[in-house]
Amino acid sequence: MNFINTIKEMQNLSTTWQLEGQHIGFVPTMGNLHAGHLSLVKKASEVCDKVVVSIFVNPLQFDDGQDFARYPRTIEEDQEELSAHKVDAVFVPDEQELYPLGKETTTKVEVPGISNILEGASRAGHFVGVTTVVNKLFNIVQPHIAVFGEKDFQQLHIIRQMVSDLNIPVEIIGMPTAREVDGLAMSSRNNRLDSARREIAPVLHQVLDEMREKILQGRADVPVLKQSALEQLSKAGFEPDYIELRDATNLQEPTDNTTERVILAAARLGEIRLIDNLRV
Ligand code: PAF
Repeated sequence: MNFINTIKEMQNLSTTWQLEGQHIGFVPTMGNLHAGHLSLVKKASEVCDKVVVSIFVNPLQFDDGQDFARYPRTIEEDQEELSAHKVDAVFVPDEQELYPLGKETTTKVEVPGISNILEGASRAGHFVGVTTVVNKLFNIVQPHIAVFGEKDFQQLHIIRQMVSDLNIPVEIIGMPTAREVDGLAMSSRNNRLDSARREIAPVLHQVLDEMREKILQGRADVPVLKQSALEQLSKAGFEPDYIELRDATNLQEPTDNTTERVILAAARLGEIRLIDNLRV
């Protein structure tokens, strides 16, 4: 496995592979890897000849400096974990090299509208940070395919739109959310939950699941269902941010023409913000 820290070295390796006719799969991460990330790596290795995983806690996508500072960084364990899988290169860029002019003055990539609803409404500038860094990583790694988790449903949607709008020659694959046995969506942030909050955390998934069941049984009073879900979360000890039923193809309010729906939710448990979603 190649451990790469510089942009030039990563670009040179990708160019060599491209010239050899190798198909390159890419999994961008912020590290602190769990089974969810590994399922993305597995998918990339099934559909490509070479797999690159990047590890970079991207300061541009954090609206809260403390959240950035406290984001778990476990680079040695991550590299060890990846060496046990079919990964050909781990790219760990340097912040200074990625943003030489600083994050305020660097060129940004924005998918308008959709970046400012749901997660974007609560986390100003978050998705501009994501699309900017993913675009840069695509230019550096030059993959044919990139694999993302559906847990970040809105992120996946926005990246697909960016790739389509900017004609980026990368195929995007979305993979189902990996869950703990109690239903909690796997996330690096879960490690920051104390044991009492870790016990409460699966309630987020349970509440989504109950709302989904009710909708499937024909309940059309969505505002009432939403209100009851928010109350259940508060009662369990969450500070809910939103629960929304949306059209899964555009994340707008469902209409009579909507065929695929998704419930998306975000809630804070102490200082940890958890998100989850379920297709209906
Ligand atoms: O989903 C993530 O871990 C991050 O948002 C990503 C895609 C690696 C960009 O920093």
